[in-house]
Amino acid sequence: MTPLELTEALEAYVEDHTTPAAPHLAALEAQTREQLEAPGMLTGLVEGRFLETLVHVMQPRLVLELGTYSGYAALAMAAALPPGGRIVTCEISDEHADFAQRHVDASPHADRVEIRRGPALETIAQLDGPLDLVFVDADKEGYVAYYEAVVPKLAPHGLIVADNTLWGGSVADPAAGEESTQALRAFNAYVRDDPRTVSVMLTVRDGVTLIRRA
Ligand SMILES: C[S@@+](CC[C@H](N)C(=O)[O-])C[C@H]1O[C@@H](n2cnc3c(N)ncnc32)[C@H](O)[C@@H]1O
Repeated sequence: MTPLELTEALEAYVEDHTTPAAPHLAALEAQTREQLEAPGMLTGLVEGRFLETLVHVMQPRLVLELGTYSGYAALAMAAALPPGGRIVTCEISDEHADFAQRHVDASPHADRVEIRRGPALETIAQLDGPLDLVFVDADKEGYVAYYEAVVPKLAPHGLIVADNTLWGGSVADPAAGEESTQALRAFNAYVRDDPRTVSVMLTVRDGVTLIRRA
């Protein structure tokens, strides 16, 4: 079989064959593109539906997201939470946290999403766990530290979902040496070699690695 090349046309086809976003998420995405810098950071429709589906299947009590940005993933996951389930999402930028808070407040899920401001490691330290689902999507240089901080708090059937683990394909390009690429290569090898966990790297969007206890 020929290896799959994810062309723009194929990405458009994938989006076109995924259940469309709820109106509040479509509005959030449009306003993110209009008002915030770096809208490429937005999780978006396909990964949002993927995360929502994990939540639907797992029925987590506590979800932790590292890196809120405009709030897309948090609100996508919130839609599938069981009664009593909640999401804590943390964000270091006040501009991003303010934007996300406005959209959380205007959404049907305001009672389930708590935005904590400050560095991700501080928020992890404040939570006792058990963490049922952790979406790691903050600064790439911090991934190994975030992983080390959350693994001991992971529920027995918990899941860590690490985003951007392919980093535009640069992780597999020997000529690519920027700091974020090196950090993600180091993280990917660290996780693969950790006997405490079992992982699988998926080619969803920019690379998503699912990690569970061994
Ligand atoms: C890729 S974006 C997150 C996208 C988001 N998960 C979504 O659903 O669209 C990364 C975010 O992490 C934030 N961030 C960077 N370093 C951080 C840190 N040390 N602690 C918390 N947030 C951080 C950035 O300000 C940015 O908003």
